[in-house]
Amino acid sequence: MTTLIRFIRTIILALPICFSAFTVNAGTVNAGVSAQESEVKEARLLIKEFSQTLKSTLSAAIEQGGLTNALDACHIEAPAISSRLAAQSDWKVERTSLKPRNALNSPDNWELANLQRFEQRKDAGEPVGNIDTYSTIQDKGQTVFRYMKAIPTGGLCLNCHGSSVAPSVKERIDALYPYDEALGFTVGDIRGAFTLQKVL
Ligand code: HEC
Repeated sequence: MTTLIRFIRTIILALPICFSAFTVNAGTVNAGVSAQESEVKEARLLIKEFSQTLKSTLSAAIEQGGLTNALDACHIEAPAISSRLAAQSDWKVERTSLKPRNALNSPDNWELANLQRFEQRKDAGEPVGNIDTYSTIQDKGQTVFRYMKAIPTGGLCLNCHGSSVAPSVKERIDALYPYDEALGFTVGDIRGAFTLQKVL
């Protein structure tokens, strides 16, 4: 019991540090094309808002009822926060991964190609927190601006995305996500990416 309390306390204390990895980074690989600069700026602000809301939702849920409670909160709130941001702006704001927990977060072709490039860039030594990309594409007759930013795996994340998650947590993950692929990560891995798009 005491170990459990200590465990939960460690997580609560680690949250701000872990999620600070989500804060917006000034660096980008693509040279600034001025027409796209304001879109990139907007996308980064939305990511900041998304990650901060996720962070406070997760920490409140852990405080109230531990990790399994936080899993339930994440299950409901992550997609809800994403829809709320979309309703408030012209953007679609989502997360994706090469190994998604929620099958609805599976990458489309553009995301898949860029997530694979993100892995290559990480392997070439680029810090994960700096990795992002953007482009303007044509999709079904529309011009769409797309932005994606890598999300690093921190220590806290391993409680729900690592190789040895607690049995009660694993049980809850299996119940909520029968197609879960998001286990086995280690610190420094790319857990996934924020992925945003806007019709121009
Ligand atoms: C309390 C358990 C828990 C913790 C801790 C946790 N996650 Fe998750 N994570 C989840 C759940 C549940 C989902 C699925 C949410 C959904 O249904 O959209 C998820 C989904 C994600 C996704 C979306 C892609 C996918 O796999 O569906 C990313 C990216 C992600 N988590 C990153 C992180 C990072 C980075 C950390 C650490 C800072 C972290 N998570 C900590 C439970 C957790």
